[in-house]
Amino acid sequence: MNKNIAVIRGDGIGPEIVEQALVVLNKIAEIYGHIFSYTDVDMGGCAIDKYGDPLPQDMLEKCIKSDSVLLGAVGGDKWNNVSPEMRPEKGLLRLRAGMQVYSNNRPTKIWPQLADSSPLKKAILDKGIDFIIVRELIGGIYFGEHKTEVIDGENTATDILRYTESEIERIGRIGFETALKRNKKLCSVEKSNVLNSSRLWRSVMHRIADEYPEVELTDMLVDNCAMQIVRNPSQFDVIVTENMFGDILSDEASMITGSIGMIPSSSLGATTCGLYEPIHGSAPDIAGTDIANPIGTILSAAMMLRYSFDMTTEAQSIENAVFEVLDKGYRTADTMPSDKNESEKFIRIGCKECGKLIMNHLR
Ligand code: IPM
Ligand code: MG
Repeated sequence: MNKNIAVIRGDGIGPEIVEQALVVLNKIAEIYGHIFSYTDVDMGGCAIDKYGDPLPQDMLEKCIKSDSVLLGAVGGDKWNNVSPEMRPEKGLLRLRAGMQVYSNNRPTKIWPQLADSSPLKKAILDKGIDFIIVRELIGGIYFGEHKTEVIDGENTATDILRYTESEIERIGRIGFETALKRNKKLCSVEKSNVLNSSRLWRSVMHRIADEYPEVELTDMLVDNCAMQIVRNPSQFDVIVTENMFGDILSDEASMITGSIGMIPSSSLGATTCGLYEPIHGSAPDIAGTDIANPIGTILSAAMMLRYSFDMTTEAQSIENAVFEVLDKGYRTADTMPSDKNESEKFIRIGCKECGKLIMNHLR
C-alpha cells in the first residue's frame, strides 16, 4: 500500500522521538512491501518561531489531505509569554479541531516487564491493568469561551465548559463500540453532582445505552474515578469521559503502568485520517540529550497502522518488537527502576538505540 503520512516533529524531544518512529515505519515498509511517504508539517513553538503562528492554515491543510498524521510533542517554556491564542498548545488544539478528530483513545496497559517501575503494590498489579480511556477531544472547556477581564477592579478569568447533546452522543457511541470489541464494560465518568454539562452527559449515555444491551454501563464521578484508578484499576475496561477529565485521568493512568513515556494515543473522527501522538509532553529539559523514551511514539505509529491503514500484522509486529526489547532488559531512563540494585539488572539505552533495537526486532 502507498500511504502519505504528515509528520509533525514539534518541539523539545519531539524531533528525536519522531525520528525513531520513522526508523521503525521505514523498516515495516521494507518488510511488508509498502510505500510510506512523509510530508513535513510545522506546528507548535517551531511554527511560532518560523511563521509567527503555531499552525498556519497551509500546514493544517497538509494534515487534512494526508492519510494520517504522526506527531511528537509541542510546547516549551520558551513560548510561555506569547499570547494565549499563539501558544504552541493552541496549534495542537486547532489541529485536533481542524481534523475533527473528536475521539481520543488512550490505552492503559501494564507491560509485565515494567511492573517494578509502577508505583502500585504488587497485589494490585497482579489483578491486571488493561483499560482504555476514550476522551472527547474537540469540545468542552478546552474549546469554550476563554476571557480575562477586569470586573469590579479585579482581574477575573472565565473558561466555559459547554457540551451539546450530539457531541456527547457521538463520543458516547465510540465508548460503547470500543467496549463491544473488548470486555463489554463501559464506565462513563463525569461530575454530575455539580455540573450541568455532566448531568446532560449522564442522561445521553443512558439514552443510547438501550442500543447496546450487551454492554454493562456504569457511572462514576471523576473524583472517585481518580481514586479508583490507583485503588483498583483492574475494575476498568473502557472509560469514556469529557475532554479535561480525560486529560487528567490519562496522565494518572499512564503513571500506574510505569512511565508516561510508554503510552500512545489515536485520535479519530468520521474518516480514517487520524492523528497519532504519545500522550506525554515535549520535555524541553531533556531535549537533545538522547535520553527520551521513543516507545510512546513508536506505539502510536503502530496504532496508525492498525486503525487508519488496516495493517494489523504490521502493527502487531511493532508491538511484539517492543515486547522483546523490554524482555531482553533494555530500558530507557524513565523506565529504569529507581532502586540502584534493581536497576543494575537492566541495560540502559538512549532514544536512538531504543529505536534501532525495536527496528531490528521487527519480523
Ligand atoms: C495531552 C496534552 C495536551 C492536552 C496539551 C499539550 C494541550 O496534555 O494531549 O494530553 O491537554 O490535551
Ligand atoms: Mg495531557
